[in-house]
Amino acid sequence: MRELAVALGERSYPIRIGRGALADVGALVAARSPRAVVVSNATVAALHLTALRASLDRAGVACDVVLIPDGEAHKSWETLNDLLTRLLELKADRSTPLVALGGGVVGDLAGFAAAVYQRGVPYLQVPTTLLAQVDSSVGGKTAVNHRLGKNMIGAFHQPMAVAIDTACLETLPPREVAAGLAEVIKYGAIRDAGFFEWLERNMKGLLAREDDALAHAIFESCRVKAEIVAADEREEGERAILNFGHTFGHAIETATGYGTWLHGEAVGAGMVLAARLSGRVCGLASGETERIEALVASAGLPVAPPKLALDRWLDLMGRDKKVDRGRLRFVLLERLGRAVVRADVAEGDLAAVLG
Ligand code: NAD
Ligand code: GLY
Repeated sequence: MRELAVALGERSYPIRIGRGALADVGALVAARSPRAVVVSNATVAALHLTALRASLDRAGVACDVVLIPDGEAHKSWETLNDLLTRLLELKADRSTPLVALGGGVVGDLAGFAAAVYQRGVPYLQVPTTLLAQVDSSVGGKTAVNHRLGKNMIGAFHQPMAVAIDTACLETLPPREVAAGLAEVIKYGAIRDAGFFEWLERNMKGLLAREDDALAHAIFESCRVKAEIVAADEREEGERAILNFGHTFGHAIETATGYGTWLHGEAVGAGMVLAARLSGRVCGLASGETERIEALVASAGLPVAPPKLALDRWLDLMGRDKKVDRGRLRFVLLERLGRAVVRADVAEGDLAAVLG
């Protein structure tokens, strides 16, 4: 088991990574409360709830389970309201932690419920997809989608711990593994050219789910994310670079209907667009743009976006959370491993990349 910390003063928390990390969740909860409410969905519960329950039992923690419907289309205000109703029916109180067992949809939604239920209760992230293990479970961004835009309603609310059990990835469908790799590639692109090179050499092993390769990729991803979150918890500056590819990606998800493109697939194609834009706007070398496209493709991710008119792109991206005083801002690369945020992108450059 390896451990990292997200250093946020009195709200600091551990990230435990390794095979069997699920077995530690009971002790993590018991340190805070003799009771918990597990939030999951039927797909994940059928595969991994027994192990979680056993861990809670061993630690003497009583638990209720609330299942939400599976899928991005259910990361909604309506599902949130149903979950809050169940928490009230169960008489969960302000000291009852929620345990989010699932992918990013369960994690983001349970985290948001924890942020607002009785003005805030503790929660733990137990991520079961690669995407959630390398990204959404760390950093305290919680949200639901709105019909008009991804993750538009939410809150910052840090978990009390993150337990990443790499064994959970054995049951993940291949398409979901590829989607998680998009966020892994992101960390190399924005922050660590050496890690990017490592990914180029090890993509086959990652797709084959070799233990050592996956454990390394998850650890390095969480290390980069924890560093950036500790430096800029509320995205007042540097944290925005974690959205490399996401301005285009979120537009793709909203335009095509939540769940049609997986989040990671949209981010994959979005990173290729962002790399091309970087070539035009801040001099990213064409060889590096090609390496990004090749790595995204080698992960089994789409590299071309759906066909949308430029006006539609601009409308969708105009609701991006990085828009500042009406100006679109893009995360671009000056070189592999060095990201910048630019608000001066000309419409002609966007048209050239999106056309
Ligand atoms: P997801 O939660 O929909 O999970 C993908 C699918 O895999 C689901 O059908 C799920 O039931 C299933 N599943 C989960 N674990 C499994 C397992 N071990 N075995 C078999 N099936 C399993 O999708 P995701 O890709 O995990 O998360 C995407 C969401 O994360 C998006 O809503 C995105 O906006 C959000 N996100 C949030 C942040 C953040 O910082 N909060 C960062 C990145 C992404
Ligand atoms: N996934 C972007 C962030 O956590 O800031």
